[in-house]
Amino acid sequence: MQVDVLTIFPHFFTGPFDHGVLSRARKAGVVSIETHDLRAFTQDRHRTVDDRPFGGGEGMVLKPEPIWNCLESLGLAPRPASAPAKQQVVLLSAQGARFTQAVAAELAVLDRVVLLCGRYEGIDERINELVCDRELSIGDYVLSGGELAAAVIIDAVVRLLPGVLGNPDSSRFESFGAGDPGEEYVPGSVPPSTHGSGGLLDYPHYTRPAEFRGVPVPQVLQGGDHVAIRRWRRQRALEKTFRNRPDLLQRAILTEADRKFLSVLEVQGRVENGGSS
Ligand code: ADE
Repeated sequence: MQVDVLTIFPHFFTGPFDHGVLSRARKAGVVSIETHDLRAFTQDRHRTVDDRPFGGGEGMVLKPEPIWNCLESLGLAPRPASAPAKQQVVLLSAQGARFTQAVAAELAVLDRVVLLCGRYEGIDERINELVCDRELSIGDYVLSGGELAAAVIIDAVVRLLPGVLGNPDSSRFESFGAGDPGEEYVPGSVPPSTHGSGGLLDYPHYTRPAEFRGVPVPQVLQGGDHVAIRRWRRQRALEKTFRNRPDLLQRAILTEADRKFLSVLEVQGRVENGGSS
């Protein structure tokens, strides 16, 4: 996959892609990440990339010309008449559609992803209209620019590319992973997989030592009863989702046993909160 990042702060990206999974993926040639300095595409003495907004108001807006010139140098502006289906130009802004694991999976099948980092109040909207395929936000908060969002998206997408994670199940069965509902959720039984997924947050993990600062690893994980381990993990995944992201339970694939367990958690919650109905 080829990733191009358009930014006024290219140095921002020295570092985030030089560690762990991302660094290995780049070295293995699975992904090539190139940053493009928008100031290099200005034509005035001061290398101006921003200007005041038409209509007045706060802040500055990224001018369209440097962005257009940069996209033109990459063969992306004007929008190619027959743009390859396997490439997308993505604008990063707080006004974008929510970036999720599902969107990461959509991007991971493309050959080329171009990430345009907004700054200040944003970019001139005509760039969005003329060349961007989608506008994404990484969450409901305002960052000072799209650079952090670009780094987040690149990380989430690259780890889904074939060959990047040693064990492909690592991404399938983690929180928000695709999982394998067909195999996992036989109604009334303990799901055969040991993993979260199916719309739940991942269960907690432990490694050695078996006791740390007086806190032991749960006994069930130290024994060899795999059915009991699966049940324990499923219940902890339900518990974490119930406490941290109850909204996810609406769409999760749940067995009868899951629902029973959740109703116990609900009753417990009510008791802890003083017995209100
Ligand atoms: N730029 C500013 N805020 C942002 C956000 N939440 N996501 C992506 N880009 C942004």
